[in-house]
Order: sequence, then structure tokens, then C-alpha cells
Amino acid sequence: MNIEWLNSTNKGTALLKLIHQFQDDTLFVDGCLHWFFDRSLIDRLKTNPPNMKSEPKDETEHFQQIAYWYVILREKYGDEVIESSIATGCKQLLLLGSGYDTRFFRLASIRDNSVKTFEVDLPETIDDKKKCLLAQIGQIPQELSLIPGNFNLDQLDNIFAHGFNRKIPTIYIWQGVSYYLEKEIVSNMLDWIEDIMTPSSVFVFDCCSPLMTFKNHAIPGIHSNIDRLVEIGEPYRFGMYADEMESWLREKGFQNIEVLQQGDLEETFLRRRTLPDRMWYVVTAKT
Ligand SMILES: C[S@@+](CC[C@H](N)C(=O)[O-])C[C@H]1O[C@@H](n2cnc3c(N)ncnc32)[C@H](O)[C@@H]1O
Repeated sequence: MNIEWLNSTNKGTALLKLIHQFQDDTLFVDGCLHWFFDRSLIDRLKTNPPNMKSEPKDETEHFQQIAYWYVILREKYGDEVIESSIATGCKQLLLLGSGYDTRFFRLASIRDNSVKTFEVDLPETIDDKKKCLLAQIGQIPQELSLIPGNFNLDQLDNIFAHGFNRKIPTIYIWQGVSYYLEKEIVSNMLDWIEDIMTPSSVFVFDCCSPLMTFKNHAIPGIHSNIDRLVEIGEPYRFGMYADEMESWLREKGFQNIEVLQQGDLEETFLRRRTLPDRMWYVVTAKT
């Protein structure tokens, strides 16, 4: 089942979601992901899809398999939060570090309820995503803003120039990003979000345990994953245990905090519990 990772984590994450489309039972259907990949890769997946349920042959494969299930479960969880928050009145969606997120196109409730969607990512990713969208659908829909910004350079306020309204109940999704940033930047991002969250807003983000940031024997396959991330220039820089994270968020003023370990997500959506703890977890906070 060995997956050939691509040389950026956003393409790698999108690839896992694409692979999911070729499995027997899918947790979500994504007919847009293929916009961002070469035809030859899609054809290869079609004719020979990796079997994500097979027994891993070594620790590297074991890590890949856990990462695959986590990414799929996290996506499904985010989808459900977005849909239920729209149903209770959220009118804006802000995707921070959006990469090749396709939710604007595939979640009907976003379009049916005219939920303005703002995506922020590094300029190279935003440019590439724009190019792919233009090639596939001819134009960027008016309700979708693709905004270049670097969290390390404190460029979040760029969203206001693109029409983000801080008075509207909003869904904030910061998925698959915190661990690539230094703690100080994570802290600044959390403060910024807490400060602009209006009543009836919801914030979902994920983080990992410190064990994901250095080589150890507790996490299967962590050695090769750390080497791979260093090689592509996107090492994990930040991790915090969930209980410490919860206290940190409370000190920062967040309320109604819920932490779901990857095993909790697995139990919710797949009715089984096989994924190990002390890897990634998802946090939700509501105002
Ligand atoms: C692993 S990808 C996750 C993408 C997407 N959220 C998903 O779940 O598929 C991490 C994303 O964070 C973005 N990112 C990392 N560091 C960033 C920074 N300093 N400023 C803005 N975006 C950043 C990357 O460009 C990438 O698109």
C-alpha cells in the first residue's frame, strides 16, 4: 500500500483525500480533487488504488496508514461542523492554511446559503490553486476569495480588504497547519482568532502531541516521517499534549472547548477504535 508522497504537505494531504475516492466505502465524496493532479496520477489510482485496509508491511507504511485515516476523519469532522454551523446561522467560512481544500465546491450548504468563503495560504499555493481552478472551471466564483498571506509575517488582516466581515457569525477552520509553525506564531494566531470570534461562531483546528516532533519509539514510523518532512522543508515545529492545550485555550479566553483524539473521530465515524492516541487531535471551540 506504499504511497508515493508528493513534495509538499498540501499536495500530500490532498492526495490522501484523492486516494479515499478510490476506496470501497467513502466517508465523503469529492469530485473536485482531481482538478489539482496530473491525469497520469489519477489513471494510476484508478487502475491500481492503494488498499488502505491492508496490513502495513513496515513502520513507514503503518504511519502512512494512520495519517491517511486521520486526514479522512478530520475532513469528515470539519465538513459536519461546517454544515451544522451553517444550519444554525453562520454566514462566513474562513479556511486558514486552506491548501487544496475543495469544501466551497463540494458542500452544497455553503453555496445554498451564500456563505462567503475566504481561503488563506502562502502566495505560491494560492497562485497554483487559482491557476488550477481557472483551467478547470474558467473563473473563481464571486463568493470565494483566495487570499495570499503568511502566518509567520502576521498577514491575517489581509482578509478584511477582501470583504471579511468581523461582525458575522463565522466558521474558522485551521486544519493541518499548527504543527508547521513555531509556538509563538500559534499563540498569536489563537489570540487573533479569539479576538475576532463573534457570538455564535465556531473554531475548529488540529494539533499534535510533542511526540510527533522528534524521533522516538512511541509513534510507529515517526523516524521516516521526520526525515521526509525535513527533506521537503516542512518539519513539524510545534506539538502540545491535549490537556495542556485545553488549559492554554481556556487561559486565552476560548469557551466550550472539545478535544477529539483521532481514536474518538474513528469511533464516531467508523465505529471502531484502532488509531493510537498521542498523535493528532482536533479541537473545537464555540462562542
Ligand atoms: C498540510 S497542509 C493542509 C491543507 C488543508 N488545510 C487540508 O487540510 O487539506 C498545510 C497548509 O498550511 C499552509 N501553511 C503552512 N505554513 C503557513 C504559513 N506560515 N502561512 C500560511 N499558510 C501556511 C501550507 O501552505 C499548506 O497549504
